[in-house]
Amino acid sequence: MTRIKRIGVLTSGGDAPGMNAAIRAIQLTAASYNIEVIGFKHGYRGLLEQDYKTLLPHHVDNIIQRGGTILKSARCPALQTVEGPQIAAATLQQLNIDALIVIGGDGSFRGALEIAKHFAGQIIGVPGTIDNDVDGTDHTIGYATAIDTALDAIDKIRDTADAFERIFLVELMGRHSGFIALSAGIAAGAEQIICPEMAQLTASDLKSIITPIQHAQLLRGKTSYLIVVAENSYPGGTTALADALTQAIGIECRACILGHIQRGGSPVGADRILATKLGAFAVEQLLQGEHLQMAGEINGAVSLYPLAKTAERTKAIDPFLVRWQQQVGSS
Ligand code: F6P
Repeated sequence: MTRIKRIGVLTSGGDAPGMNAAIRAIQLTAASYNIEVIGFKHGYRGLLEQDYKTLLPHHVDNIIQRGGTILKSARCPALQTVEGPQIAAATLQQLNIDALIVIGGDGSFRGALEIAKHFAGQIIGVPGTIDNDVDGTDHTIGYATAIDTALDAIDKIRDTADAFERIFLVELMGRHSGFIALSAGIAAGAEQIICPEMAQLTASDLKSIITPIQHAQLLRGKTSYLIVVAENSYPGGTTALADALTQAIGIECRACILGHIQRGGSPVGADRILATKLGAFAVEQLLQGEHLQMAGEINGAVSLYPLAKTAERTKAIDPFLVRWQQQVGSS
């Protein structure tokens, strides 16, 4: 076993429900091996500005059910400068930190890889982002909660859409991927799902959206119609898409941008369990001497994946559901 006395931990990038559960698992696991845990505040900014505190067991009491992150999060452009990673590594060295755990998405892991070039200790990543767009793990921490949050909102929109027999476009987060849109769209029974992986939409080609709407109206008459749209699927965004559709078919289409509500809230059970498992696994793998790996879960089993490969986008949205949705949507 590698001798580790002190671990640093930070949460970086978009916060995700379950990050607190991961922090808790890291603290409790480390404490069981007599390892001290230093929590850096506001992501990498805490490393650059030496803003940190020792995390004791009582600091992680009653946080497993809380959204957000007790360590705060941030995006940190200063880490992308030449000096940034050097300063971050110097802080770790000065504080006698043997290993660092970064909870975040692939952008945060890129930062970790830069710091590693100047840091003699070990680094492990824990995937925490609602987007689920990280390779090497079936699910990221926060994704399951984001689906349920989006679903709850879409169900409510369906009620009013039904009452008015309106067409609604609901925009969900996901950065450049459609994991949340596909899952929430399927679970909500959306008539159409649009995400970057399914089609590259342009302003001049709306036919693929309009034809199924007209088909549904022919078949069912005037009725509610929900289109779930992943952000960044259409130039100008979902409001622009709703306007373009309104013009093209002469029926009012309403847009609803769900936004940051999807990042908040108490983590669902699946996220708490995943976060606990991956946080604990990360500490144990550091003790095994692992470095520059991500602690993930594949087919229910914990597994390591090289940090450098987490952004390669090899993980695809469910092809079965994509095919089924397209088959049903266009019939
Ligand atoms: O990565 C999480 C996420 O919520 C994305 O889904 C979204 O594109 C982005 O962060 C929004 O970032 P910000 O809160 O910095 O606007």
